Amino acid sequence: MPSPEAEFARVAVIGAGTMGSGIAQVVATAGVEVTLIDRGPSELDRGMAAIRKSLAKLVEKGQLTDTAISATLERVATSTNRADAARAELVIEAVFEDVVLKRDLCAEITRTLGETALYATNTSSIPVTSIASVAAEPARVAGMHFFNPVPVLKLVEVVRAERSSAETVERIARFASFIGKTPVTVEDSPGFVANRILVPMINEAIFCLGEGVADPEAIDEVMKLGAAHPMGPLALADLVGLDVCLAIMDVLHRDFGDSKYRPAPLLRRMVAAGKLGRKSGEGFFRYDR
Ligand code: 3HC
Repeated sequence: MPSPEAEFARVAVIGAGTMGSGIAQVVATAGVEVTLIDRGPSELDRGMAAIRKSLAKLVEKGQLTDTAISATLERVATSTNRADAARAELVIEAVFEDVVLKRDLCAEITRTLGETALYATNTSSIPVTSIASVAAEPARVAGMHFFNPVPVLKLVEVVRAERSSAETVERIARFASFIGKTPVTVEDSPGFVANRILVPMINEAIFCLGEGVADPEAIDEVMKLGAAHPMGPLALADLVGLDVCLAIMDVLHRDFGDSKYRPAPLLRRMVAAGKLGRKSGEGFFRYDR
């Protein structure tokens, strides 16, 4: 059996946002050549700046050396041409949660890939099966769900879609281990496991705030000190993005048809007002942009 490095000598990551740049970073840090692809130079510049900032943080924390930084950066190529994904042995799609866009990319890119190449989608809420169903070969598609901040959090949920082959799931899990993550294989159920548990908890914290049970600082303090969470649920919502939290709650609510997943009205109102968390400078807390 080839090592994951030999199996996936070149990886393409589509989407240079928070998740895509984090994924490209961990792949390159593990010694694999990666092409980071996005629509325009400004998206790519932002993605590369995030990688540099994150690598510097890891050096600060003593988890990486300065020489590792330059070696890692040398392994990341950037491109605005989606056709460049065709040379990759593994494509990881990490674009915005838009089902039409994700399906279009999957249909287009899987038709250009080599015979043994795999396609993984980093969707946080859209069923992998609905994306994979338009692939040239759905057996070679699975979910690869990373967690924010990607360079720090260990988990990758490997999502088995309805028609993913056992070999695809195994190869993707092996690659996740190779890049230093811990893969956990789950079925293609709404929210998978992590977001089904985590995001309703965040939603409940927003209900508490909306009902005036406590202020944002108090709610977060309770969960940090009383449940040993590394950050409070409202600060976490700001990190993940309130629009992303709402999209996940909407999927859980719609797909399970259970009112226990209804999004908090305050969450919907804040998203409508453009208060999206860290990325917009304001969510439950304020941030310097
Ligand atoms: N790369 C990128 N960001 C990093 C980083 C790195 N190497 N190391 C730390 N961070 C970030 C933090 O987000 C924060 O950002 P800021 O500088 O802009 O304020 C800052 O660095 C804090 O740094 P610290 O070293 O002080 O942070 P901690 O050691 O206390 O850890 C944390 C920060 C890792 C975010 C920790 O609080 C944590 O684990 N929080 C929970 C995160 C979580 O639950 N994530 C899952 C979200 S759900 C998800 O992603 C799924 C998706 O589908 C929605």
